[in-house]
Amino acid sequence: MASSTTVHSQAGLPLPKASAPREAALRFATPSFAETFNIEPLATAHNLSDLEIFSYDYLRNLAEKYLANPADAFVASSAPSANADFNSVPHGQHAPHVAMTLLDQAPYRVLLKRPEKYDTGFRELIDALFASISEAKGGFGGDKIVRLESSVFVSSAKTTTPIHFDPEVGFFCQIAGEKIYHVYPPANVTEAELEPFYIKSSVEIGKVDVNRRDPAREHVFQLSAGKGLHQPQNAPHWVETCSSQSISYSVVLETESTRSLGRTRAFNHYIRRAGIAPSEPGKHPAADALKANAMNAILPMRKLAGKVVRGVKGQH
Ligand SMILES: [Fe+2]
Repeated sequence: MASSTTVHSQAGLPLPKASAPREAALRFATPSFAETFNIEPLATAHNLSDLEIFSYDYLRNLAEKYLANPADAFVASSAPSANADFNSVPHGQHAPHVAMTLLDQAPYRVLLKRPEKYDTGFRELIDALFASISEAKGGFGGDKIVRLESSVFVSSAKTTTPIHFDPEVGFFCQIAGEKIYHVYPPANVTEAELEPFYIKSSVEIGKVDVNRRDPAREHVFQLSAGKGLHQPQNAPHWVETCSSQSISYSVVLETESTRSLGRTRAFNHYIRRAGIAPSEPGKHPAADALKANAMNAILPMRKLAGKVVRGVKGQH
């Protein structure tokens, strides 16, 4: 590890205990959160770890509710290394509630997406945390929230989630056990690396090479109960659990402007493919908006084409 890596091991000031999800809150390591929002990774503290909804029995019951909607859950093995291809790691071996009983026997990672759809406690939790984030940021102004959802992660000891980036702004909370979370600011990814992701509407995860990241820009968060981090959109990250099982929770959001930026990048991808170097998003906001609007018309067609291809696949 390079000596210039920024290591975060403190959670900051403790929060008042939450006895119900509606009392949950985040606290940011610096009062300048509003200035660094969606630019730099930042340590957070939270008071979620003692909530009943994160007890093993509650989570196992929650996992059973996913039997009717298997696409909302993801069970995977540990990746062999941080740089492994995300989709090449074996997955789908068990239903999530079954994998949760096997965590001691094999290195599994269980992801329960959008628990707020299945449980009122998790609905209250995401609403409380969004209020906490919005207050710390000083509101979102006219920037409309177009997606707000959460995930629960239950993992065996000694598992690795390989490096990737997500097209959303994240707030990660370690509930139980320990995790080492490696994250780079989005400025450490080139535009050429980001752009293809935004034209592939069927892809949920952005792939990047860990060896092309600048070690001097790496943030390492040593997470345990009560600690967390803010992860900007498109920030490459990879995660390791330590010697015990781990429970984590994350809230992600997209705003109209973060989504529009994705459409601008999709447009730039086509310009770059035509041999012209596009201007970086943010340098010419009026041009960015024109590009995003143009992609509004193009992307739905691509999405439809993708759906048709996926529908035909396997039908021979
Ligand atoms: Fe991620």
